[in-house]
Amino acid sequence: MFPWLRRATSTLDIPPDVPAIEVRDVYVSYNGHPVLQGVSLTVPQGSFWALLGPNGAGKTTLLKVIVGLIKPQRGTVRVFGRPPEALGPWRRALGYVPQHQRVDLYFPIRVKDVVMMGRYGMLGFFRRPGPEDWRAVDEALERVGIPHLRERPLHALSGGERQRVFLARALVTQPKLLLLDEPTAGVDVAATQSLYELLRDLHKSGMTVVMVSHDVGVVTQFVDSVACLNRRLVAHGRPEVVLTADTLSDMYGCEAVFFHHAATPHLVVRRHPPEDAS
Ligand SMILES: Nc1ncnc2c1ncn2[C@@H]1O[C@H](COP(=O)(O)OP(=O)(O)OP(=O)(O)O)[C@@H](O)[C@H]1O
Ligand SMILES: [Mg+2]
Repeated sequence: MFPWLRRATSTLDIPPDVPAIEVRDVYVSYNGHPVLQGVSLTVPQGSFWALLGPNGAGKTTLLKVIVGLIKPQRGTVRVFGRPPEALGPWRRALGYVPQHQRVDLYFPIRVKDVVMMGRYGMLGFFRRPGPEDWRAVDEALERVGIPHLRERPLHALSGGERQRVFLARALVTQPKLLLLDEPTAGVDVAATQSLYELLRDLHKSGMTVVMVSHDVGVVTQFVDSVACLNRRLVAHGRPEVVLTADTLSDMYGCEAVFFHHAATPHLVVRRHPPEDAS
């Protein structure tokens, strides 16, 4: 469907039966405080996952472990069968859209240059971007639906448009695995829907997609699997099987029920009353 994705896939010889991600018994603590405890998860190539969980559950930490930004104190991580810190040229097969983008909005940088930053790992220190790199930038901007913003300074974009620029930056190496940490934070309902549709198209083109989200009801319409995290993996599998009242209550620490009464399932939570409530 997308010629650039096929082109990229053909240059990286990744056997199809190797899982895109394999996390085994991973433990992470910050200053002695445990954040991930014995997390194991296998994401096959070509699947579309949502990683769900409350604030502080360890979702961002888990993504950072997968991309190799954090080394777990215990356990093993493999991306396409290799340790994330030893991916070598396969690193371009991994696209990452972090949760908090550190951008100085007063720094005069244009959209095309932000997207080109995604190619720097492939360029090395000495090579300047060539026509092929600029073509990849244009294709990525086209793919996320903002080719008209190519020359715009980053500060002159809306929050939703900026999110698409960061997605384009992750796509510019033509990855096989895309990790997104709350890509729709601060994005309106219509733009959220169209972003999820875009991710679904990328997935249909053969990309493995894993995204962290709090839109529990909405993502379940798009993904084929969910992983529910609250420091440990509470449950994982198909959304309709996994998202039971028990799992939701284990995950959120409160009573939570899914209502499937409209096109979009709704999550309703009820906090337990305080102990001293009369
Ligand atoms: N660099 C750090 N140093 C110390 N503690 C940290 C650090 N990064 C995260 N934490 C703590 O680890 C826990 C998990 O954080 P993490 O960012 O992984 O959660 P999360 O599930 O992504 O939450 P959210 O939904 O709010 O983004 C939190 O309690 C957080 O305060
Ligand atoms: Mg987070």
